[in-house]
Order: sequence, then C-alpha cells, then structure tokens
Amino acid sequence: MITLDKLICNVDGALIDAWKTINENTKGSVFIVDDQKKLLGVLTDGDIRRFLISGGRLESGIKEVMNQEFSYGLEDESHKKLLKKLNERVKILPILNKKLQLVDFIEYRADFYIPVAMPDLKGNEFNYLADAFLSTWISSSGEYIENFEKDFSKYCTVNHGVAVSNGTVAIHLALKVLGIGQGDEVIIPDLTFAATINAVLHSNATPVIVDIDENDWNISPTEIEKAITPKTKAIIPVHIYGQPCNMDAIMKIAKDNKLFVIEDCAEAHGSEYKGKKVGSFGDISCFSFFGNKVITTGEGGMCITNSSELDEKMRILRDHGMSKTKKYWHEEVGFNYRMTNLQAAIGLAQLERIDEILNWRSQLENKYREALKDTKKISFQAILPDREKITWLVCILVEDNQRDEVLKSLNEMKIDARPFFYSLSEMDIYKKYLFSNKNSLSISKCGINLPTNASVSDNTIQRIKLNLSQL
Ligand SMILES: Cc1ncc(COP(=O)(O)O)c(C=O)c1O
Repeated sequence: MITLDKLICNVDGALIDAWKTINENTKGSVFIVDDQKKLLGVLTDGDIRRFLISGGRLESGIKEVMNQEFSYGLEDESHKKLLKKLNERVKILPILNKKLQLVDFIEYRADFYIPVAMPDLKGNEFNYLADAFLSTWISSSGEYIENFEKDFSKYCTVNHGVAVSNGTVAIHLALKVLGIGQGDEVIIPDLTFAATINAVLHSNATPVIVDIDENDWNISPTEIEKAITPKTKAIIPVHIYGQPCNMDAIMKIAKDNKLFVIEDCAEAHGSEYKGKKVGSFGDISCFSFFGNKVITTGEGGMCITNSSELDEKMRILRDHGMSKTKKYWHEEVGFNYRMTNLQAAIGLAQLERIDEILNWRSQLENKYREALKDTKKISFQAILPDREKITWLVCILVEDNQRDEVLKSLNEMKIDARPFFYSLSEMDIYKKYLFSNKNSLSISKCGINLPTNASVSDNTIQRIKLNLSQL
C-alpha cells in the first residue's frame, strides 16, 4: 500500500525529481504541492513523455509542465461521491481540505466495482462495426443484417430469422403475426422480466399469469393445463436464467389444445432441451441482444421460425406493413421494428464467439459452485438431466429471509449482485391477470444473480464467499 508522501513533489523541483518519484511510486503520476502542501497541479508520466518528445529537457521546472486543471475530492465529501470521480482515466484522486491542502488520496482499481454483467466485445466486433460504418450502410439494410439473421437462425437450427430492434418488440411482432389480439388469452409465467407480459398487453390480448415449477423455475406445465380456457390462444414459455423449460410437456399441451407456442429465449441463447436448441420448438421464438445478454448488439432482438409464411409476414410487419413488391404500398398497419446494419455487425462478431462466451460463462458458474459448495443456506439453480442449461447470470437462492441482507452487504462492497425479478403478480399493474403464483413468490424472494462477466476474478469470488459465509 502506497503512502501519501510517495505521491508528492514540491512545485519548485525539476522535472527529473517528479520523474524519479513517479518511477518509485509506480502510480504513473505525482501531486505537485507548495510548502504548505497546497495542491497546485498534477503531473503524469505521459505529460513528461510528451514534453520530452517535443524537445523539452528533464532539468526544466515542474511548474512549466504540470497540469493545473485536475480532478479532486474534498475531505468532507461522501465516500460514494468520491468513488464516482474515479474512472479508467482518473485512477488516483487527490483529497483536499478546505484550505485546498492535500490530505489524502483514493485509488481506482479494476475490481473496484464489479458489475453484474458486461458485454464481452473482444473479437471482430469493432472491425465489423467500422466496416459497416465505412460502407455507409448504417441504417436497416445491409449485408450484416442478412448474415446475422442467416447465421443466428442456423445456430438455433431454425430456417428463418427476422432481426428486430429489441427482444420486447420481437414478442410483440410474434403475437401480431399469429393474429393474437383482443379477447384472446396468452399464458405466461409469473417469474419473468416484465417485457413478456408488456408485449401481450400491447397486443391487446389478456395475459394469464401462471406459477412456475419449483425445480426448474420455469412455467409449470400442470398450471398451464389448469389455466386453459376456450379463449386461450398461445403459451409463452420463458427459459428463465438460461434454464430450458419442460418443452415436451409444453408442446404436448399446445398440440392437444391447438395453441401457439412463442418461446421467450431472451436469457437462454444456446441452451438445449433433450439435445435440441431452445428456440427450435415454438411457432416463433424470440431473442434479446440487450447489453447484458449472452451475446449483444447493444439493443436488439430476433424472431426465428421454421415457417416461411410467418417469416414473410414478420418482415412486412417489421417494415411498416409495406408490400415487398410494391414500394410505399401498405398492406397492413405495421411497425418500424428494424435492426440497423451497425447493430447486426456487432451481433455477427458476437455470434462468431458464442461458444467461447458460453464456455467462460459456464466455467465461471462452476467456480462459484465450487467456492460456495459448503456455504450454508445457499443453493444454486438446478442442473437437470434432460437439459443443457447455459449460464446467463449465475443464480443462487438464499434461505431464511436473508436475501436482502446479503444483497445489501454485497452492494456495499461494490459488488453489483441483483435480486431476482419480482413475481409479476406482486405488482399492482399486473395483479389482475393472476392465475397462480405460489412457487414463484417464494423463489423470487430468495433469488440473487451474482456478477457474471469475464472480469470476475478468483479474488472477487473469494470476497463473495467470505461475505456469504457470515450467514
Ligand atoms: C425474459 C425476457 N424477455 C424479454 C426481454 C426483453 O428484451 P429487450 O430488453 O431486448 O427488449 C428480456 C430482457 O431484457 C427478458 O429477460
């Protein structure tokens, strides 16, 4: 741990003194003070390098080179406010008293704040994005869109893909082309992100919220069966937190009752049920490529289907309902739900690395499982024999109503752990659509998503373990 005196140089010194201090403190910068320790400037090794390259000499005075504009904190500022001033650029922040004298400093560390999710953009993302940009095809036509649709649907072993602006509109578009609207009922799980129910409500259909299974946390086939009425038109199984739903049971119920199935695969890219990719079961399946998803396009989504007829309809409706053969002739009241070529360029590069991404995700989950295996009151998401779940966000359940306490202490450590989604039926705006919710209420209250991004280190996992072992 470095002390303040190793970070200080007197303003009357020569550049060589500052350079030596930087060399010793290994922090890349030094604070410049007067005899009363008043902070007058900051000097970095980059400033010195640039000065020398432009013909300056090491014997020159520090005064000539130092930056007089710098970020600083005040000693009576809250810790939270001070932390906010640190970032990749300002890695070391001087702290001053009221007389502007240097009294302390705080440092940025890469593991200072651990976000719950972070896009992994280490492949061709930037190259393809630049290529799309330079091609001037930056709107919603272009080769990247076509290739992303083709390659992503192929990855899911499905014939067609229609890229859209996000995962929510993907579900809305699916409902629309299946003709679901006013007077129709759509069965959805109680534990899901609100996008699922919002899409149903925006299509003027009535959502019917049913309970989840206590093992896989997904929509319960038994509850679906109980909730079916003559008005039921569709089921939206959501593969929550990367765990595939019981698709055999759901597809059988749908077949027996002539119901459409729209899979919500927003959190489960690449997961498999009995060796078959999720997204390949439903009439239409919907994906999200939001920034926290397994692969991302920033914002974005896709509908995939094996039906050429539905594919064609979705393409028309996505593009204002405009005829494909007669420009500016509108056959239906459509939407602008298009994805841009820029987004698709990122998506295509992400798709090239999906196996690698899924691999580090599952390895990270295994590390959490190993580290926390003896921790009392903690359990992980089920590993089920007939399913190959993927790791979207690592999930744990905390017993004895201690979930919120755990979350609070992790968040205080700057570890961005998140609560599970609230049960939809708990919220005033959705309550009236409730059919059943027993398991969902109890699981939702205990669930935590642990940070799941490529920069989570063994050290972070140990810090989390230490925290959880105090339960
Ligand atoms: C289960 C589920 N469905 C739908 C969506 C909606 O996706 P988007 O945020 O891309 O609209 C999300 C994620 O955000 C989700 O988690």
